Amino acid sequence: MSVAIAIDGPAGAGKSTISKAAAKQLGFIYIDTGALYRTVGLAASRRGVEPVEGKEVEKMLASIKVELTFNDKGEQVVLLDGEDVSGLIRTPEASMMASKISAIPAVRAYLLDLQRDMAKKGNVILDGRDIGTVVLPDADVKIFLTAAPEARAERRYKELVEKGMDVKYEDILADVKERDYNDSHRAIAPLKQADDAVLADTTEVDLQGSIDLIVSIIKERT
Ligand code: DC
Repeated sequence: MSVAIAIDGPAGAGKSTISKAAAKQLGFIYIDTGALYRTVGLAASRRGVEPVEGKEVEKMLASIKVELTFNDKGEQVVLLDGEDVSGLIRTPEASMMASKISAIPAVRAYLLDLQRDMAKKGNVILDGRDIGTVVLPDADVKIFLTAAPEARAERRYKELVEKGMDVKYEDILADVKERDYNDSHRAIAPLKQADDAVLADTTEVDLQGSIDLIVSIIKERT
């Protein structure tokens, strides 16, 4: 029997970095579900489709193809109509678009089966917002990974600056707070800790400490 781990939490809590490292250490496949919402958001931006519920978004969903694959280094690659958009979906604009588009029920329904199919590929760690509550309610281990908004904004700021992007900390903090609000107040599959999830708060914990914490939570429970 393969094992499925759900790691949910707000933007910038280090979910992807920590989940990826934990998966590597445990020999699990790591799946970043936010990349799927980002890809749908990118499709909407490119087509000039407003990220609001309605026929336009539904029409777009019917005409795009979103795929999740892995390169020879085992890294996740997302394809939009066959094009590798893994890098293009990592801008602050793409983050905001993803947050808005992910509130649309048709978008969530569109990505649900894709995520569930990916979870059947073996021992997996899926990270997202609603993995433990909606996508994999029977996950073997559920972790809610969070940190204070200021700590998350600081981390994201450093990450973007390292990538050479010209960004301001205040803007990132405002974005983090806006996305938190959007993600946890949407009507469908809002960001919230599953009743049976273990809470991991990394505000005061460094990256290595956070990875060790997640690996130990998973090992203890599987
Ligand atoms: O994890 P991320 O920042 O790449 O996610 C981008 C957006 O996608 C985020 O604002 C919320 C949304 N999302 C979601 O609604 N459900 C998921 N399982 C993953 C991401």
